[in-house]
Amino acid sequence: MKNGAFVTFEGIDGCGKSTQLERAADWLETEGFPVLRTHEPGGTPIGRKIRRVLLDPANRKLCPDSELLLYLADRIQHLQEVILPAKASGTLVLCDRFHDSAVAYQGYGRGLDLTATASIVQNHIIPNLPDLTLWLDLPPKMALERLKQLRGANMLDRLDSETPGFFQRAQAGFAELAQANPERFVRLDGTSDIETLHQQVVACFQDRILS
Ligand code: TMP
Repeated sequence: MKNGAFVTFEGIDGCGKSTQLERAADWLETEGFPVLRTHEPGGTPIGRKIRRVLLDPANRKLCPDSELLLYLADRIQHLQEVILPAKASGTLVLCDRFHDSAVAYQGYGRGLDLTATASIVQNHIIPNLPDLTLWLDLPPKMALERLKQLRGANMLDRLDSETPGFFQRAQAGFAELAQANPERFVRLDGTSDIETLHQQVVACFQDRILS
């Protein structure tokens, strides 16, 4: 494999995507592939500042449209500074969340009209879509339970503290995205155990990226 690739891991908070990304990256490195692990928001120095603004529970006044634009600003910076150069140099870029998260959370979750940002998406996102998106599908109730165990009920950030309805809508958003983009999306059953999921992720890489 000479070319790089861009692979994203998506799903609602607590679905297990970060664990699977780490396991996949470890496996790919053991197999001798150049790998870059990255995430959104916050995959660049500027993005880390944006992330602090986005996730600070004190920022209750952040307007939904401002929130969307901050995620997009983080994404453009990340693409230009990190993702595209790494992919061009032959690296496998594994990214924890990308634009599907904005469609699911800001579009479906908050109910924002994303047509206002259509030209930004057309110019910056559409030409640089992932080669593969692994969606970990886990019911929101189970995801929230996992999050509470992981972070503690008092440690939730601004988005973690959203209503159950918000996560239900975001979950429905991911389901619709997966259905609308079968050439790019693979749905994985997030209720499976970590090892079973890892083997499925490995199979996806073998079939779709490394062959
Ligand atoms: P993380 O916990 O996966 O790092 O993501 C931080 C939060 O940001 C998470 O609750 C999902 C949310 N998010 C959006 O709402 N829109 C986006 O475009 C992205 C990338 C993340």
